[in-house]
Amino acid sequence: MASMDTNESGMAKGLSRYGDSQFSQYLRNAFLRSLGFTRSATDNSVVGITNTFSDYNACHRAIPDLIQAVKRGVLMAGGLPMEFPVISLHEAFSYPSSMLLRNQMAMDVEEMIKAQAMDAVVLIGGCDKTVPALLMGAISANLPSILLTTGPAITGSFQGERVGACTDCRRFWADYRADRRTKTEVEEANEQLVASAGTCSVMGTASTMACMSEAMGIMLPGGASALSVSSERLRLAEETGRRAVALIQESLKPTDLLSEASIRNAARMLQATGGSTNGVIHLAAIAGRLGLRLDLRGLNALGKDVPMIADVKPSGQFYMEDFHKAGGVSRILKQLHDRFELDCITVTGKTLKETIDNQKLGFPQNAIRDPDDPIYPSNAITAVFGNLAPEGAVIKRSSATESFLVHRGKAVVFDSLNDLSERIDSDELDVSPNDILILRHAGPIGAPGMPEAGFIPIPKKLARDGVRDMVRMSDARMSGTAFGTTVLHISPESAAGGPLSLVEDGDIIELNVPEQRIQLLVEEGELKERAVRAEKESSNSQLSGRGYIRMYVENVTQAHEGCDFRFLVPKRNK
Ligand code: FES
Repeated sequence: MASMDTNESGMAKGLSRYGDSQFSQYLRNAFLRSLGFTRSATDNSVVGITNTFSDYNACHRAIPDLIQAVKRGVLMAGGLPMEFPVISLHEAFSYPSSMLLRNQMAMDVEEMIKAQAMDAVVLIGGCDKTVPALLMGAISANLPSILLTTGPAITGSFQGERVGACTDCRRFWADYRADRRTKTEVEEANEQLVASAGTCSVMGTASTMACMSEAMGIMLPGGASALSVSSERLRLAEETGRRAVALIQESLKPTDLLSEASIRNAARMLQATGGSTNGVIHLAAIAGRLGLRLDLRGLNALGKDVPMIADVKPSGQFYMEDFHKAGGVSRILKQLHDRFELDCITVTGKTLKETIDNQKLGFPQNAIRDPDDPIYPSNAITAVFGNLAPEGAVIKRSSATESFLVHRGKAVVFDSLNDLSERIDSDELDVSPNDILILRHAGPIGAPGMPEAGFIPIPKKLARDGVRDMVRMSDARMSGTAFGTTVLHISPESAAGGPLSLVEDGDIIELNVPEQRIQLLVEEGELKERAVRAEKESSNSQLSGRGYIRMYVENVTQAHEGCDFRFLVPKRNK
């Protein structure tokens, strides 16, 4: 246990600097007594616990109960739990976009772990951006760390139909826009879409990040998918607290746990679950903090051998509670054992192989398919490259319209989010179902913050005619709960001078996902002329904004690099 007269552990760590370290400790002790701690209590190893509860964050509503259970586990193992607040981000309460704030949260996490006295940290998050932010910050702080997510919400019921956020939210809204549902119906459905505390109940970004984290070994087995309101989650929380103390004794830090192999395992899990395209950006950022690189061509190469076997919305038919009952991440690892690198060590102190070998998962179920009967045979998420996306773009082909995966169409260009919202529903819009909708200036710098606007709505006049999907392309992101033929994260983005900025209405674009190609079919000479014109027009543009947004715009990397801040990414190992 920690000694009070060393500056290396426990409550003797990270003393505030007054030029007299003994006085610093003396002062701290006075405040520890003030907090009601006896000397023997503060002589223990300290486990920090991030508190991301917020009245604004429905997905984190169960966190107070989880924290109590974690504290119990820490105390049972002989440690001292210390809860502390960090930024909380909810998707529906983060203007202009939660992605803009992910890096701020990561900085908050890193600095508060480093600033405060603790020997290990339990990271509690759940809603989309919170998990990558917690992991990015914890990797950079590099203290023994273990993740606990809030878990998915239960499903609701509307007119006899099972519903859950947010795939069904989008479906109901699309039906309303197309006059297939009344206002009263969508308002009544609204009561049922998020039926409990917890994260979205499909394989959206939150569940994708949770599954990838479990596959990376930074979370206990079963931790990705146990329901938010279940007693199993409370037991996981208690065990997480206990393991946090053990991680101190075993001196197991994020950089010991996370490696190129564990990043590859996370990428395989993304493919096997048909996870959110956001997972690609967040995994690139997490890898970046380790000095590694998630290469989009490498993602395609890994995905070639990984069938998508999780039959979960938005690509499949079930919900996260079914996925969990089917065996969750462990079952995926077991069924695809020859595709994963199972000798990776995890926060349990054991390898992934040892972890899944202990689990009896042979019972019949239907939410996770056999590898020879997949939902999608391979590359559920595919990166495409070409003169429109020299650094790549991604598409979730498992939720796209198959016939659109090889497609040529005429560009209908929206120059910004404002332009999109002003014209998309106009009866004057010159658009037909085989055209390609283009949205630009919606990337990391352009928006700024790369909002989830890539799920461009079907123009109302086409939606009314029954059109449900079109090819859409942008430098924006898309919610993991959304679906459709959407090419996202076009990199470099238009605001950084990417070729997307050169597309004009009527240009022909060719998409060939099986061949991983995206091509703007305009003569090179013409594109050069457009580039010169664009350069002149932008030469007078001034960087706007102040404070954090200014720092973001000046330092954010492009989508294929993870949208982290350049100054937070260590020199690359690979
Ligand atoms: Fe929080 Fe979907 S809005 S997980």
